[in-house]
Amino acid sequence: MTTIAILAGDGIGPEVTVQARRVLEALDLDLTFEEAPVGGAAYFAAGHPLPPETLDVAKRADAILFGAVGDPRCDALERKFRPEQAILGLRAALGLFVNLRPATLYPGLEDASALRPEVAREIDMVILRELNGDVYFGEKGYRTAANGTREGYDVMSYNEAEVRRIAIVGFEMAKRRKNKLCSVDKANVLETSQLWRDVVIELSADYPEVALTHMYVDNAAMQLVRNPGQFDVILTGNLFGDILSDQASMCTGSIGMLPSASLSAWSGANGLYEPIHGSAPDIAGQGKANPCAAILSAAMLLRHSLEQPEAAARIEAAVSAALVAGARTPDLGGTMTTSEMGDAVLAALV
Ligand code: NAI
Ligand code: MG
Repeated sequence: MTTIAILAGDGIGPEVTVQARRVLEALDLDLTFEEAPVGGAAYFAAGHPLPPETLDVAKRADAILFGAVGDPRCDALERKFRPEQAILGLRAALGLFVNLRPATLYPGLEDASALRPEVAREIDMVILRELNGDVYFGEKGYRTAANGTREGYDVMSYNEAEVRRIAIVGFEMAKRRKNKLCSVDKANVLETSQLWRDVVIELSADYPEVALTHMYVDNAAMQLVRNPGQFDVILTGNLFGDILSDQASMCTGSIGMLPSASLSAWSGANGLYEPIHGSAPDIAGQGKANPCAAILSAAMLLRHSLEQPEAAARIEAAVSAALVAGARTPDLGGTMTTSEMGDAVLAALV
């Protein structure tokens, strides 16, 4: 029996996750679902954004479908109680250092893309983001000096083992795609990035067939808009990957379209799958959220953790068909509600 943990979280998290679950259920794959609270929902219910019982459910499951965490009512809490700590805690506890964020323009979404149609049509890339290190996990502080001025800091660091293990995934992925790998860093000013670049270059000797390029992150942000078709696999750190993938999402039409997989190895046992967006408090509870990113995350779950590539392809084809038939939530310029969009995908499932 295969168990999927459903950690729906806050805001639009539960709204989009329920649509992804409906699509998984419609496939008749003999899946069992186990729900557990996470984020602000868990803080209000149990006093902690990642209660031990929730972590147990996540660890026991064959894969995790995650919604989003974040609740404005928690903004003034001490950091360890903030909802966002739950997703960082899960990534750390499960060793999820590989984050795959495919970005591609779905048929018919040229009008929703922030780019010109002929530019948008070229987008077909994977942003490979390191997920267990960098400035998010370094030492942090917020303090008031004796003279009364406040100071905040977050240490950015990577060691070579951390860079090597994600870079290996990058080269392996490039081999399975177009043999093109673009490593994005800021080696002109950051020592963390210099180490990153050195390790990637050393490793490239093992992958002579892969054409490796390097790009500074500020240039990469510009190139993503100017000519996204030049990218195939982008390999980058935690912070840069976070920012660049939100940006890539608008090139494909909406942040509500992009799924992600977080894995502990190249193969995806016990992976966590989530839309790249957050809890969107501005539209929560209004039925406006686009569930496609969550639904496509479920497809990634089938492909990477459950070795069900055909079922994954069925979901992707259904999303595609629904979009071609004109199904659109407001972020894509339409009027459908979240559940109507879910209905449209279900109706297109063959
Ligand atoms: P966000 O991704 O939640 O929202 C950004 C903008 O995109 C908003 O205008 C929102 O309405 C829109 N949007 C997001 N998802 C959408 C969807 N499926 N359909 C239509 N429109 C959508 O990012 P924001 O506003 O910066 O953060 C809100 C909360 O989410 C914060 O507490 C943040 O920390 C948290 N967050 C959590 C993440 C996670 O759980 N992995 C990731 C990113 C943010
Ligand atoms: Mg983000």
